[in-house]
Amino acid sequence: MPGAPHHGNRDGAPLDATRARRIAIVRFHLNGEPTAVAVPVHWTLLELVRYTVGLTGTKQGCDKGDCGTCTVRLDGDPVLSCLTLAVEAEGRAVETVEGLGVGGEAHPLQDAFARLGAAQCGFCTPGMLMSASAWLDVLALADDPTFDRATIARVLGGNLCRCTGYTKIIDAVEAVARELLARREESDAPVGADAPDSQRAVAP
Ligand code: FES
Ligand code: FES
Repeated sequence: MPGAPHHGNRDGAPLDATRARRIAIVRFHLNGEPTAVAVPVHWTLLELVRYTVGLTGTKQGCDKGDCGTCTVRLDGDPVLSCLTLAVEAEGRAVETVEGLGVGGEAHPLQDAFARLGAAQCGFCTPGMLMSASAWLDVLALADDPTFDRATIARVLGGNLCRCTGYTKIIDAVEAVARELLARREESDAPVGADAPDSQRAVAP
């Protein structure tokens, strides 16, 4: 659990003395919670998240950087947790799919994936969501927020799916991105620009 250091191997058995000497305490924020865990120094961030903390939303696929299903966000950037050492999380912010929604509400991407049939077996979905959410956060602040479906395909290029054929996944990400840009345009519009004359501020 976040906050409580754990000692043990993947099966929960105690580590022997020699291996225990190669344990590191990693202190970081996990889905916004200050967290400290003890892990063997050679463990990956994927092993930390799944086997020490028990957040199994992050999937273990190829374990060698090919499939993207282990993607989490490290200081906001998508990273392959199977190729990232757990100790690299020291002092940093890690976000997994369990932390994607806010206040018990699903993230708009999760809603769109469900609504548009973008998940079938769902094994690739957490990684897709983490890659797409990182891109959406960049898009929200970009000077030039233009994109097309090829952009989304590139964003998700490191995330493999065996089920969907990708079309519905891109549909879902595109739908959320377009909503985001529509909201951004609304909030960027000059105050009163679309208001009826009677509601516009009148200079004294
Ligand atoms: S499990 Fe990390 S890329 Fe496949
Ligand atoms: S939905 Fe099954 S692997 Fe993507």
